[in-house]
Amino acid sequence: MPSEKIFQKSPLPPFSKGGVGGVKPGERPKVQEMVRHFKMSHLILLSSALFFSGLTCVSTGDKAPEMDPGFCMECHQRVTPGLFQSWVESKHAQKGVHCMTCHIDHQAASQQKSMVLPEKCGECHPKPLQEFKQSRHSVSWDRMRIQGEYLSIPQEIRTAFCERCHVIQKRCNSCHTSHRFSLKESRDPEACGACHLGPDHPHKEMYETSLHGIIYKLTRNPERAPRCVTCHMPGGTHNSSFGIARGPVGTGAEVVDLKEKPIPPEEIQKRREEMLGVCTQCHSGRFAREQLENADQVKEAGFELLEKGKKEIQEVEEKRLLYPPLSERPAHPTEGRRLVLADPQLYVGTSHIERLFFTMFKFHNIRVWKSGYHFSPSYTHGHGWSEMQMDLMDIQSEAERLKELFGKPKE
Ligand code: HEC
Ligand code: HEC
Ligand code: HEC
Ligand code: HEC
Ligand code: HEC
Ligand code: HEC
Ligand code: HEC
Ligand code: HEC
Repeated sequence: MPSEKIFQKSPLPPFSKGGVGGVKPGERPKVQEMVRHFKMSHLILLSSALFFSGLTCVSTGDKAPEMDPGFCMECHQRVTPGLFQSWVESKHAQKGVHCMTCHIDHQAASQQKSMVLPEKCGECHPKPLQEFKQSRHSVSWDRMRIQGEYLSIPQEIRTAFCERCHVIQKRCNSCHTSHRFSLKESRDPEACGACHLGPDHPHKEMYETSLHGIIYKLTRNPERAPRCVTCHMPGGTHNSSFGIARGPVGTGAEVVDLKEKPIPPEEIQKRREEMLGVCTQCHSGRFAREQLENADQVKEAGFELLEKGKKEIQEVEEKRLLYPPLSERPAHPTEGRRLVLADPQLYVGTSHIERLFFTMFKFHNIRVWKSGYHFSPSYTHGHGWSEMQMDLMDIQSEAERLKELFGKPKE
């Protein structure tokens, strides 16, 4: 719907004086109060209060507050009542941060498909923005866009596949969702579980099957047992890359910085000590250090096993037994035509033996080590290590089969 039309059709004058259209008396008193609250005179008081209270911005965005914000609300409490009610219950409503502050107007909003980018939030919340920018959340969209899997999926359906999660780079409202922007919701492991779940990064599942997750579920008491934010956003920091020293994001073996450079040993050490600082709120230093070092060893064992699988396939390729042959395959979108084992290997257009390896590296190996750091024995062993061993057997027997069937010299 073109934005101008909404305004042309509007039965309401831009500066409404009367009651609240469409709402029966007594039905939603909170809403009515809120609209009345936002009559012009109040707005001026509220926005100047905001301005003088030390916030670093003018509260009404780029345009001057020439329009009554009650104008947006009178209509939106009817057209989008759920959304409106969430805003009514938010801190923003209490403090005079209203529709126009974030969206300006229909034209500006529809140009951005209603997105309100982190920079906008950062005008009033500079510290969260600055910390967020140090975390890998702030590169997630850029990292996704150059990935082969993304490029090999038809454009029309990419939103549903990848973008829904990786949009966190552009959405502060990923953990405290609009329009309630609730802190309670964002601190809950469920909020992180919206993206951190599933076969290739089952953090939610690993956490829920660890003693930490179980005690938290039983008590809902973050002082008894840690939740995601206890370890990853301690003290309320928005730098969720805090303390990540050895178990990197994705499927690689090394932790890298935001420019993809491996982090130096001193930085690794520093990060490990920082993470241990969290553990020692509840555990002894000796206990916590041993647990993390144990996880480091688990990770190395997983990668050693992975190398064995890789070698089998490389041998098969040396004998030119992969089908379709590398020379006849469509180019890998980022790597060209060569054999790609592990990241950024694709799950299309390869052979069966490579597909077996895909499962081994992408699902099973990452579970071994990531659950090592999240203390879920069921994922480390049952869904991880034992699956990897069986993947290796399958790869070995497929390699034998290929050698037997096609490996004999042609007569
Ligand atoms: C006359 C009623 C009316 C008024 C007044 C009104 N809106 Fe809307 N607005 C609507 C309707 C209806 C839609 C839904 C359009 C649709 O279904 O795509 C909408 C959609 C929106 C969207 C979503 C746009 C998108 O494409 O995602 C935003 C944001 C928005 N309005 C903000 C505002 C702001 C800010 C104001 C005050 C400056 C305002 N509205 C005033 C009726 C109104
Ligand atoms: C603190 C900033 C902020 C305020 C204040 C705010 N919004 Fe939003 N609004 C957002 C964000 C963030 C989104 C989600 C954009 C996204 O991620 O797609 C959004 C999305 C929307 C959408 C489209 C999403 C949908 O589910 O249809 C509409 C419509 C909308 N806002 C209307 C309003 C109205 C009306 C008000 C005033 C009652 C308002 N907003 C106040 C930040 C704000
Ligand atoms: C015009 C300034 C302004 C903008 C823009 C703004 N906020 Fe706020 N925000 C506030 C104020 C003021 C508070 C209340 C602070 C307080 O009471 O301590 C607040 C509170 C919050 C809170 C804490 C809520 C609570 O229940 O304690 C969150 C989370 C939040 N904002 C997120 C956002 C996000 C995300 C955006 C962008 C989509 C945004 N804000 C845009 C001014 C703003
Ligand atoms: C909307 C999806 C989404 C939500 C919600 C989300 N994350 Fe993430 N997170 C991601 C993506 C995508 C990445 C990978 C970013 C990259 O490296 O490209 C990531 C990466 C991370 C990392 C790795 C950081 C590093 O430096 O290796 C941590 C830790 C993390 N998230 C913790 C959390 C926590 C804790 C929460 C909940 C409070 C959370 N995330 C909520 C999508 C999300
Ligand atoms: C990974 C999830 C996640 C993302 C993404 C996120 N937040 Fe938060 N945010 C939280 C959590 C959890 C808290 C509560 C921290 C605590 O324990 O006090 C919080 C607290 C806040 C607060 C209130 C406390 C304070 O530090 O002022 C504001 C304001 C806020 N966030 C704004 C933002 C802004 C702006 C962005 C985007 C730049 C953003 N958040 C992105 C999870 C997130
Ligand atoms: C007891 C503390 C603790 C809790 C609770 C916890 N983690 Fe972790 N997490 C860690 C440690 C330790 C590492 C690895 C640190 C390192 O690299 O040295 C890690 C690594 C990560 C990473 C980056 C490496 C990887 O696995 O991709 C992500 C993402 C992550 N955790 C997400 C989560 C999410 C989401 C939750 C909640 C469902 C959660 N974590 C709960 C301690 C915790
Ligand atoms: C359910 C949410 C979700 C979906 C859908 C999703 N991802 Fe991710 N992605 C994540 C999370 C969470 C991480 C962090 C994983 C970890 O720490 O192990 C991640 C990590 C990554 C990484 C590694 C980031 C880095 O910095 O190296 C890439 C690349 C990636 N995803 C690309 C994609 C592509 C391409 C798609 C679509 C085919 C996709 N993702 C779909 C949540 C998602
Ligand atoms: C908020 C408190 C708290 C924090 C913080 C915390 N833990 Fe725990 N952890 C517990 C509790 C409680 C138990 C169960 C103790 C028991 O029954 O002996 C536990 C158990 C464990 C276990 C045993 C799991 C099992 O299945 O036997 C390990 C390993 C562990 N924690 C490691 C860590 C590490 C490493 C960190 C820091 C990254 C950490 N914890 C942070 C409270 C915490």
